[in-house]
Amino acid sequence: MVELTETFVLECAELDKDHKRLVEMVNDITDDIDKGVTGNCNSKVLNFVNFAKEHFSREEKLLKKNGYPEAAKHHKHHQTLIAKMEHIQEFAASAETNQLACVSLKRELVYFLMDDLITTDMDFKDHIDSDQD
Ligand SMILES: [Fe+2]
Ligand SMILES: [Fe+2]
Repeated sequence: MVELTETFVLECAELDKDHKRLVEMVNDITDDIDKGVTGNCNSKVLNFVNFAKEHFSREEKLLKKNGYPEAAKHHKHHQTLIAKMEHIQEFAASAETNQLACVSLKRELVYFLMDDLITTDMDFKDHIDSDQD
């Protein structure tokens, strides 16, 4: 279970709302796996992947608007995460029949969250206008 603590709040309503939703989606999927309920795993992961991509676009737009000097670098980082999402989708596709895929899926989803919202997004925390949403 991943929890978004105060330290990882950007104080930007739009992005914090997205991050909260991403965490909720991952927790929902990992909860299902823990309960052995994997029938909806594939579609839930697909929703997550789509929402994460929308989030990246929103975030990148906001970074550009705020003149963040590392916006291009952050865009590149998102591209590597999008590439990783292909593995996440492959694991999800076999989650129903493969226990190992479930374990990998859980691990990759949590890494994904840590890689975007917990680690790299903190780099721009002081560069965005907190009044914007
Ligand atoms: Fe990001
Ligand atoms: Fe983010």
